[in-house]
Amino acid sequence: MSKSNTKQKIASETIVPFWRTQRSNGRRKPIGQFGVDFGERGVYDRRNPLNELTGKEWTFFLNSVWIKAYPPVADRCGFDLRKIHPCPKPPLLMRDIIQFFTKREQWILDPFAGVGGTLLGASLCDPGRNAVGIDLNEQYVVAYKNVFKSERLKAQRMLCGDSRDMLLFPEIRRREFDLILTDPPYSDVMNKPKNGHKRKLYGRNDATPFSELPNDLGNLPYDDFLTELRHILAIAVSKLRKKKYLVVFSRDLQPTSERPYLLHADMINAIRQIPGIVYRGMRIWHDQAVDLYPFGYPYAFVMNQMHQYVLVFRKE
Ligand SMILES: C[S@@+](CC[C@H](N)C(=O)[O-])C[C@H]1O[C@@H](n2cnc3c(N)ncnc32)[C@H](O)[C@@H]1O
Repeated sequence: MSKSNTKQKIASETIVPFWRTQRSNGRRKPIGQFGVDFGERGVYDRRNPLNELTGKEWTFFLNSVWIKAYPPVADRCGFDLRKIHPCPKPPLLMRDIIQFFTKREQWILDPFAGVGGTLLGASLCDPGRNAVGIDLNEQYVVAYKNVFKSERLKAQRMLCGDSRDMLLFPEIRRREFDLILTDPPYSDVMNKPKNGHKRKLYGRNDATPFSELPNDLGNLPYDDFLTELRHILAIAVSKLRKKKYLVVFSRDLQPTSERPYLLHADMINAIRQIPGIVYRGMRIWHDQAVDLYPFGYPYAFVMNQMHQYVLVFRKE
């Protein structure tokens, strides 16, 4: 193992999770003018305006590739209720992102909330955060509400509607947010039957991911999708505080002979046109809970997409 690999491994294994040490803080030894010694967690800098992480935890998050399984059935976040959705995000994954981009009690907005991965992630943070989500599909909204009740998690505000109209809701109009974290649909190119792994997990083979609704971004052709996504995120960004972050999930689609479908790059180019929004970089999440398939074997290369892009923008 190279020296840098060793360092990475040590960092990931020795960090005592934030939520475990918070309650036992007691009196902490000051270090220099701004440092507070958090023991195994490292040193926290009191000037940090972004989050409650120590330098060691902050550095670990900067690793551009993040290899981690968040097994859906093991996360104890009501997967059986959430699996009516074709691609719910693991709440623990969302929690890990939220803990980097916010401090306790701050507010997070998700304009494509689905069955509430972001909202559940906000409730799982310790100390907790507050979140508002909106989704077009009433079934998903109801599923989220059943999950937070059955898992006895803090209730967040989940709204049902088209996120183009999000400012009609006082829960969004009357507030400013510290983070926008979202996982949008990826145009009608994604409306494909599920592969064997997903069929087994979700118990069905949907060809239509989210709904038949014409205002569902998942039913728009690729270029229209990019335009509408920029439009909706621009509305959300109008409620984001300055110097705060917009974090958007993306993946690439299967290339065709007509088009490479580098969706993550096309999304970066669309979103950076929103006034005030600057692209700051990405993390790649390698989802180790996904199985590898011999697509194309033995005739042609067909990629297994095991990773997703977590695109990071800032309001300057
Ligand atoms: C990829 S999913 C989000 C999944 C979510 N992260 C979760 O953990 O469940 C995208 C969601 O966007 C919703 N959606 C699509 N168009 C929308 C619109 N115009 N307004 C609000 N929600 C929309 C879909 O119903 C779908 O649930």
